[in-house]
Amino acid sequence: MSRSLKLYIAGLVTMGVVALVVTSLVYPVHTAIGLEFDGAPGVSSAERLIGVGFWIVVSLFASALPVQMPRGILVAVSIAPIVAAMNLGGPAAAALVALFGTTEVRELRGRIPWYGTLSNHAGVLIPAAVAGVVLEALRTLATGLPADLVATLIGALVYFALNLVLVSGLITLRLGGDFRTVLLGDMRVFAANLVALTPLGWLMARMYATEGLGWWATLLFALPLYTTRLVYQRLMEMREMFTQTIGALAEAVDKRDPFTSKHSQRVKQIAVDIGRQMRVSDAELEALEWGGLLHDVGKIGVPDAVLLKQERLTREERIIMNAHPVLGAQIILPVTKLAAELPIIRHHHEWFNGSGYPDRLLGDEIPKLARILHVADAFEAMTAARPYRMTPLTAEQALGELRKFAGVQFDPIMVDAFVRTSWVEGVADPGQRPAPRPIPLIAQVAERMQMAKPESLVAGRRGGGTPDSV
Ligand SMILES: [Fe+2]
Repeated sequence: MSRSLKLYIAGLVTMGVVALVVTSLVYPVHTAIGLEFDGAPGVSSAERLIGVGFWIVVSLFASALPVQMPRGILVAVSIAPIVAAMNLGGPAAAALVALFGTTEVRELRGRIPWYGTLSNHAGVLIPAAVAGVVLEALRTLATGLPADLVATLIGALVYFALNLVLVSGLITLRLGGDFRTVLLGDMRVFAANLVALTPLGWLMARMYATEGLGWWATLLFALPLYTTRLVYQRLMEMREMFTQTIGALAEAVDKRDPFTSKHSQRVKQIAVDIGRQMRVSDAELEALEWGGLLHDVGKIGVPDAVLLKQERLTREERIIMNAHPVLGAQIILPVTKLAAELPIIRHHHEWFNGSGYPDRLLGDEIPKLARILHVADAFEAMTAARPYRMTPLTAEQALGELRKFAGVQFDPIMVDAFVRTSWVEGVADPGQRPAPRPIPLIAQVAERMQMAKPESLVAGRRGGGTPDSV
């Protein structure tokens, strides 16, 4: 665990303890949350505690099986009972329900380290306490049910925002990457949660407080809470299934050549890591993930005689091989969900100086994600054995090649971003070339005017003097 993560967790836990103590002292639990059982008039302290206990149990059921989002944030439907407890019992009740009611089965089984459990609970306790205080303040401004609903919604918004910030900070420190990307990554899911579950929490509180209905009526809401959780789970399962299917397809392509097994999986990982360094958006990271897996899918249409040939390719064979980006884009075209991946697949062999294929795009004309993938593809190809080069290059040699051809074959910015990834951590970096070769813009434009010849597909040489990434 890094020192900054230790400090963050210690700060989070300290703030959690302070929030619990302060809210308990300043805001006694309201009587509205009390569950009357002794028949005596008024609501005793014990009855209030039992009321809090009831909401902790409801929250425990809601938290028992959280759904994990792609970036690691857990979504549980426990927000509804926490909002209800905040509405009925005030900040201290909300803090207690958040603290104990968000315990997960994994924690009880010891699958989460103690510091993870502590920080997770502090990450909900602090927002619940602060949101409760905000709700109390708003209630002094207006009374009545509509005002109560609005105040509760605003309180819930505070809870969500604070929880998201605290958890994103924790994930960023634990897994690395960019805070903003993590924060915005699952924002939509959180917003959907906010819209769907906060009014439900408020309704549960109103049911609970209504004479003649009470605690048992709130349990009727268990079903919509459960189905909401089920929807999240199904969504995540669908995404996972899609990724696995794409992975299987990519592996089927890679497996045709014994030398390229797992190539696409590794390219995907490297590309995603460069994307993180480039602070691309969440949608772009997903495109890199799926585009990385599928970038060579067009090789499915390259005959074995060419794909598996160990000797140098002839000019005709090279043309067939170099058609794979276009073929791959044609294969993926009917899959509307993969529209963002199309430019990556089509342009992952374009060169920064415009001499790549299939469209001879130049510099920034090449889609950003394709420029990222090109670096990832080349590094993976150079550091893996190939029939024409049985001894792979070392990471240091491969990085040297990337640096050497930055500005020619590769976008220097993407090479810089790659250098910051863990793939070359501790590897000697020759650094940027002192004077990058200028892009032959005029020559390029002149050439384009007489282009559209089949020869334009001939670029790059297998086993030649430049880093290969066929
Ligand atoms: Fe390729």
